[in-house]
Amino acid sequence: MKKFIFFLIVILFEVNLFSQTSNLITNVDGRKAISLNGEWKVIVDPYETGYYTYRRTPDPNGYFKNALPKDKSDKVEYNFDSSESLLVPGDWNTQKEKLFFYEGTVWYKKSFGYQKKNSGRVFLYFGAANYESIVYLNGEKLGSHLGGFTPFNFEITDKIKDGDNFIVVKVDNKRLAEGVPTLNTDWWNYGGITRDVKLIETPDQFVPDYFVQLKKGSADTIAGWIRTDGMKNKKNISLLIPELKIDYKIIPDENGVARFEIKASPELWSPENPKLYEVIIKTEFEEIKDRIGFRSIETRGPEIYLNGKKIFLKGISIHEEAPVRSSRAYSPEDAQKILGMAQELGCNFVRLAHYPHNENMIREADRRGILVWSEIPVYWTIQWENSSTFENAANQLEEMITRDRNRASIILWSVGNETPRSEPRLAFMKKLTEKARSLDNTRLITAATEIHYTDPRTIMTNDPLGEYLDVLGCNEYIGWYDGLPSKAETINWTTAFNKPLIISEFGGDAKFGFHADPLTIWSEEFQEDLYIKQLGMLKRIPNLCGMTPWILMDFRSPRRPLPGIQDFFNRKGLYSNLGEKKKAFYILRDFYKSK
Ligand code: GCU
Repeated sequence: MKKFIFFLIVILFEVNLFSQTSNLITNVDGRKAISLNGEWKVIVDPYETGYYTYRRTPDPNGYFKNALPKDKSDKVEYNFDSSESLLVPGDWNTQKEKLFFYEGTVWYKKSFGYQKKNSGRVFLYFGAANYESIVYLNGEKLGSHLGGFTPFNFEITDKIKDGDNFIVVKVDNKRLAEGVPTLNTDWWNYGGITRDVKLIETPDQFVPDYFVQLKKGSADTIAGWIRTDGMKNKKNISLLIPELKIDYKIIPDENGVARFEIKASPELWSPENPKLYEVIIKTEFEEIKDRIGFRSIETRGPEIYLNGKKIFLKGISIHEEAPVRSSRAYSPEDAQKILGMAQELGCNFVRLAHYPHNENMIREADRRGILVWSEIPVYWTIQWENSSTFENAANQLEEMITRDRNRASIILWSVGNETPRSEPRLAFMKKLTEKARSLDNTRLITAATEIHYTDPRTIMTNDPLGEYLDVLGCNEYIGWYDGLPSKAETINWTTAFNKPLIISEFGGDAKFGFHADPLTIWSEEFQEDLYIKQLGMLKRIPNLCGMTPWILMDFRSPRRPLPGIQDFFNRKGLYSNLGEKKKAFYILRDFYKSK
């Protein structure tokens, strides 16, 4: 019997049945928090020696114990305190040359002191860690998280000690066939704790999450809900929007959720006027402040309407990479720089590809009045018939929407990019669109699909996934992967849907500073000519309501080795990775100015 129980525990351990993240706490910057950013001790562990015994069974005395020798004869073959460090937040690839291409496990350790209070709760919060994280506090497993671009947190109220504590995190960025994304991506597989780590302190009864926005289809009603945790008594919760003279008392329902609909006529948020209101949620235990913009977004046939006015989305695609240093972006300064570059291009819209970017980007877009397409990394050849792969994708979708549902700038949730057509893929993606709508029925659902030639000179946007989308995204590379730029002058477009269409990618590479005639590939003139001919074609595309050319800035990719030209960069940027403008930048900027 004992043997059976032991194996049962091993199985549970292995399938991470112990892994439970607590409900996501949103608006962490509006809460009492202690930052754990800074230097963390690290051990690079390619064989996962810190996790498994030599027989590849889980080691109960792994590195997460942070053990020290008990006496001079005791053999402990690791030591965090005499190991090297990495900065958190930050990818490991660009912090240490030896980790540039590394894919595997790195153990992180942070010791910290804490003064326990006689009431209240404590959560350990991660902005993101790529790709799989297993988190321990004082040698005890808290749980695990899959996915490199969404936040997660664990309640540690009863586990954190008064005095000295230590956190150990096993971060593994190995690519997996069953992963989301899967084995093949055209971006750098940055590993590590790539965003903020914080201790969040809340009252015993607190508000983890809420949704405040214009009621769908109305401009004079603010509606939403406030979810409470541990609220035993049916006490009032107040929603205040001082500038609108709103001080609204609500009582949570039997599930602890306080719902509301309030007559109000806020100034509407838009690119021309990115008006944000201070919104306060007050209980007898806490006061949470946020800044929220009120706007409506809808489609009418093949057009998109913002606040009841038709809008053309002058966009650009962006990877989460900071200029000059070309590493994972994460800070408010990175967001200001990157979105400043997009606005210099004349954009009112950005496609944050191919995964949820850090929250600073979305908050900065709110402040600047830049509309956002936000996407989960269901990218290329995902394992459509693997149920745990779907659970993973659905969980990342839920975490993305939960974190950002109060951000006016986000108008589109994208459920994927360039996924190859098949029945299993369609079923998988359709379920994701249904999940997205169940989580947020105020925004538009999209995906970047691929074109289909009905004859050598006619393209039809007819991906069956379009049936389940509000807005069709479509990538096309005429002039780069598909003929030369002059081909764009010969193509006719048709569409299978009476829905808005965004050309979510087009473009071509150019090495900044390399000049030649327009037919010499990799030259700035080639890229410039491609943009001229593409824009000439785009005007002829029916239902076109926007575009996000690929891409704002050159970015690192393991798939682009060509020496002297690519050097492991994808060179489709309109800016070089050093922030230098290429000739095609001015073609697109002048086109947007003319819109
Ligand atoms: C694809 C893909 C991008 C990629 C780009 C390219 O369409 O969506 O992630 O970087 O094309 O090949 O440059």
